Amino acid sequence: MHMPKRAAKPSRLTDVFFRHMVGNMRNGVLAIARDGAVVLVNDEACRLFDLPPGANLVGMPYGEVLHGHPDIVRVLGGVFDMVTLPNRAELRLRSTSTVIGYTLSLVRDEAGTTVGAALFFKDLTDVEQIEERERLRDRLAAVGEMAAVMAHEIKNPLAGIEVMAALLRRKTRDNPDAQTLVTEIINESKLANAIVQEVLAFVRPIRLQLFPTSVADALNSALTLVDGEAARGATAVSLHVPTDLPPVGGDYHQLTQVFANLLINAYQALAGRGHVHVTARLATTAEAGALVPGGQTAAPTVVVEVADNGPGVPADVADKIFNPFFTTKPKGSGLGLAIVRKIVDAHEGRIDMTTTDGRGTCFRVTLPVAPHQHGTHH
Ligand SMILES: Nc1ncnc2c1ncn2[C@@H]1O[C@H](COP(=O)(O)OP(=O)(O)OP(=O)(O)O)[C@@H](O)[C@H]1O
Ligand SMILES: [Mg+2]
Repeated sequence: MHMPKRAAKPSRLTDVFFRHMVGNMRNGVLAIARDGAVVLVNDEACRLFDLPPGANLVGMPYGEVLHGHPDIVRVLGGVFDMVTLPNRAELRLRSTSTVIGYTLSLVRDEAGTTVGAALFFKDLTDVEQIEERERLRDRLAAVGEMAAVMAHEIKNPLAGIEVMAALLRRKTRDNPDAQTLVTEIINESKLANAIVQEVLAFVRPIRLQLFPTSVADALNSALTLVDGEAARGATAVSLHVPTDLPPVGGDYHQLTQVFANLLINAYQALAGRGHVHVTARLATTAEAGALVPGGQTAAPTVVVEVADNGPGVPADVADKIFNPFFTTKPKGSGLGLAIVRKIVDAHEGRIDMTTTDGRGTCFRVTLPVAPHQHGTHH
């Protein structure tokens, strides 16, 4: 770039320019002098370190300014003694759980004397989440293969146990104690078999049959399916789907399973009391805050919400609920939501959960509208 040189006060002009440039940078910048006094903090640095923007921090010791972030203080602490400075290193701020990538460099004057140090950094939380999901997918592929083989092998002896226990029950009719024990064996092997079935459903690679699919149909089918399976008790259910909602590009059976799992969870959370509101509406991915991977422009999506007024999900549990095998239920396998997420991911969709303690939980599934169906009413 060529900057026109002006005769008058060239240094002040460039000074102002540099100040604006650093101030508006999308990377965090924090510079300190040799004595540890802060020379510069830009807006992004204030945001990431949770410092009051606009406060005059210049001149203050960095240890004081960053007292809430001991990990950063430690990084800066050794900067003038280090032989090689970290370049593209990463750390998780314990205070806010934000992951930052950073580079440290020394500031030298014309004579080569070190006069300070600068920390450049970037918020990597989003990148981290995407990587985490990819890592999980890889891990599941490897573990899944083994789990599938094991589940398959366990299925047969399990069925054998059940059959033989039933025979034993018939032979011990005159012994009530033995009958109780044998019935217990049968029930436990039934439970084990149900878990094996769920594991198989989870690890089986998803082969989607994508067709323009009516969300209303999938929701109705899920409601019927779940009525037969889960104890709904006196739970009231309402379903609101606009009649002109366009179809999504989806697999009817898999989507039915997604909604059924969400409904079962809602019923279980409500324990027979309360209500579940199921709604669907048209939105753009931008509006829903859920950008479908690959789609940079706002694409039309259908947003389905399953909301209950149950106890809610405690904060310390919320980030684990989608993990396979995470459950808070004595007889749960913890695979329900893991399967839900796997299916939604395969649809290039998104799933989010919002919850208020004691007020309820809402699961929101965002699915892309079927291609070449944009704008049509169906
Ligand atoms: N609507 C909800 N309200 C409150 N907590 C919920 C709700 N949905 C899910 N959870 C929490 O998330 C956990 C994980 O749910 P998930 O469906 O994956 O497994 P599960 O229901 O425990 O077992 P499974 O579905 O395999 O029978 C639950 O154990 C529960 O703690
Ligand atoms: Mg469940």
